[in-house]
Amino acid sequence: MKIADVFIRKKNTLLVALCMALTVSVCAQEKTREVLTLEKNWRFHKGDVENAYLEAFNDSKWENVIVPHDWAIKGPFNKEIDKQTVAIVQNNEQVATEKTGRTGALPYIGVGWYRTKFSVPDFSEDKKVILLFEGAMSEPEIFLNGKKVGSWNYGYSYFYFDVTEYIRANQDNILAVRLSNREKSSRWYPGAGLYRNVRVIVKNKNSIDQWGTFITTPLITATVAKVNVKTKVSGENLKLITQIKDAEGNLVSQDTTNAIYGNEFEQNIAVNNPILWGPDHPYLYSATSQLYSDDVLKDATMTRFGIRKINYEAKKGFSLNDSIIKFKGVCLHHDLGPIGTAINTAALRRQLTILKDLGANAIRSSHNMPSLEQLELCDEMGFLFLAESFDEWAKPKVENGYHLYFDTDAEKDVVNLVHATRNHPSIVMWSSGNEVPDQWGSEGAKRAKWLQDIFHREDPTRPVTVGMDQVKATIASGFGAVLDIPGLNYRVHLYEEAYEAFPQGMILGSETASTVSSRGIYKFPVVEAKMKQYPDLQSSSYDLEACSWSNIPDEDFVLQDDKPWVIGEFVWTGFDYLGEPTPYDDKWPSRSSYFGISDLAGLPKDRFYLYRSRWNINDDTLHMLPHWNWEGREGEVTPVFVYTSYNSAELFVNGKSMGIQTKNKSTPTQRYRLMWMDVKYEPGTIKVVAYDANGNAVAEKETHTAGKPYQLVLEADRTELKADGKDLAFVTVSVVDKNGIPCPTATNQLNFDVKGTGSYRAAANGDATSLEMFHLPTMKLFSGKLVVLVQSAEDAGEIVLTVSGKGLKTGKINIATNHF
Ligand code: GAL
Repeated sequence: MKIADVFIRKKNTLLVALCMALTVSVCAQEKTREVLTLEKNWRFHKGDVENAYLEAFNDSKWENVIVPHDWAIKGPFNKEIDKQTVAIVQNNEQVATEKTGRTGALPYIGVGWYRTKFSVPDFSEDKKVILLFEGAMSEPEIFLNGKKVGSWNYGYSYFYFDVTEYIRANQDNILAVRLSNREKSSRWYPGAGLYRNVRVIVKNKNSIDQWGTFITTPLITATVAKVNVKTKVSGENLKLITQIKDAEGNLVSQDTTNAIYGNEFEQNIAVNNPILWGPDHPYLYSATSQLYSDDVLKDATMTRFGIRKINYEAKKGFSLNDSIIKFKGVCLHHDLGPIGTAINTAALRRQLTILKDLGANAIRSSHNMPSLEQLELCDEMGFLFLAESFDEWAKPKVENGYHLYFDTDAEKDVVNLVHATRNHPSIVMWSSGNEVPDQWGSEGAKRAKWLQDIFHREDPTRPVTVGMDQVKATIASGFGAVLDIPGLNYRVHLYEEAYEAFPQGMILGSETASTVSSRGIYKFPVVEAKMKQYPDLQSSSYDLEACSWSNIPDEDFVLQDDKPWVIGEFVWTGFDYLGEPTPYDDKWPSRSSYFGISDLAGLPKDRFYLYRSRWNINDDTLHMLPHWNWEGREGEVTPVFVYTSYNSAELFVNGKSMGIQTKNKSTPTQRYRLMWMDVKYEPGTIKVVAYDANGNAVAEKETHTAGKPYQLVLEADRTELKADGKDLAFVTVSVVDKNGIPCPTATNQLNFDVKGTGSYRAAANGDATSLEMFHLPTMKLFSGKLVVLVQSAEDAGEIVLTVSGKGLKTGKINIATNHF
């Protein structure tokens, strides 16, 4: 029987059999289900409109948009948007101050309407139609052919409705969606609109239920794996054939059953000599489920899964496939910097590629449901995943936060999270909450248990954590003892106490560091500081500045290295994100975070190399800071730091040795960094030479004082894109002097021009105070760099990006677009 993905294009609507919760449509001889991804031909209007749900409503004047879409990312930034005069209790604030950039200062608040049409050819009595939203920000109300189908509150949830009764055969069906974002509803930029995919699934009434497949691997030995497949179905006289295929598509095992219990089949299928999934070897199998009724094929789906064993054990920690492994993780918010929250696989893949180079092995989706695209990539690329649900339970953090819905919605939101994502091998832990104020008070522990029980009921294979910041309160109340895994957010000084007090025998650094820095910006004198502010609203890239509640990376490293019961860390954050501009949340125009290991453009800050030096065990790291363009600082103390995987190194300033530094345990920073604190600035060259354990020079790096900006240099992350209208190349633009030396302080205004089979999508420079809009084809360099995003069209050919700036030699790059 030939099984192939369905790719049909109809009425400008893509009929694509694509991954939905990793369940992919297949057609076996005859087509049994179709998945329409509603991407094109949406009409959008910002603001509420009466009767916009009616079929006959005239939306021809509305903006034509493509979904996924973020209605607020084009700005403009405005300090009045979501301005809040509050004391942020989580940040230990006692006095209310005016917070301007807290949610990114982008216009996400208010109502937005979307309308589109789709047709369901061959719709008949025996068909069922599901309308699936993979996230809609927020409070979506769904109307089909003028009738209300349903609504959902939480903007991060995946949800669906059976819309069979609303569908009209062989005619257009008019879909209208009303979304509404309240002010003071978020602690970061949440985005706005239909920012994730919307799909229509047309299948038989006799079929596999939405998210109805649940695959686990309860027993694994070297010679065999037992693959347990539970399949929920609808219909009568049913038979299920499940075929397991390896990554190359070869059939490795299959089972046929007609023993149904209630509405569920359960199969145990042996896979001989299983190849296990793990971060270093993310091997994926697939299970093809074929459902027959009266021996007629009625439905066929495909679910990717991994064979892998997870275990959490007191004092030993987390093991994957019987090897202890620590989480070298990062927390990520869901926005993708300059393109906002509109989901884009190329942008996600680039983030993960950068994180692989960093040596990270884990991601926490803080503080909400991850996109399905991100999970698919984590399965493929090998990342462990901590999937989180909420930032609030019943008690508020922000006036209009999730607490408004907790009592009515929390259970169904958790159920959908688990059902939609539980087949992803990457997910190894759930989180039911982050720093919820319910840590206080007797009800909190009960809520923690209630939520954890829901996770366990829906998925008995993975433990549940909560990121806790009120450690003493959770020790006293029993809240922390209830959890499968106690997660500590910061509070490095309380790890020992928590470990002693909690019964689980392990502690997860569910959120760590929150060190702040701006790429390429260095402040003097070089000292450790908390909540430090400077007149330019930037933070120092010497990586010694943190928040009142947080710490520098080195303090986490000590715990990770010295305490076997600490099972890993999730650093706040892998990338800068829109909103939450601590320590400048009361200063305009700061509008995005300073926490990232990489900046909002995805460019690595110095801190990247500090983490890389210990996380990336395959590649050596030798990185030196600061830059060496300090006109006016001649003769002044300008410390030099080296982040390296080597143990010792020697520094030379214009050929003169500044001595050898060796890592030692006297302080956390001396243990993980090499620091020359007394270097006096003189223009020229600084050079670091790294030594191996035997004192042999094994690597070196130089930094030169640059002359005037002369020429623009372009470097693309990929030079060949898919001609699908969505793929992105990220082109890093830097400016160099006449000798090709990067100019680290350049701030030239640049212009972008894209010709050929693609278009300009956005740019970002990583400056958290910039009010330049991402989608306009001009931007200033920040610390000598920025990134331009170029998007493919649907034609094969070539894109040419030209970047120019006054008085600078223009830069040009060609990017091919192909139908591969
Ligand atoms: C944590 C919180 C995060 C973020 C971070 C900043 O307490 O969980 O969402 O606000 O602080 O340091």
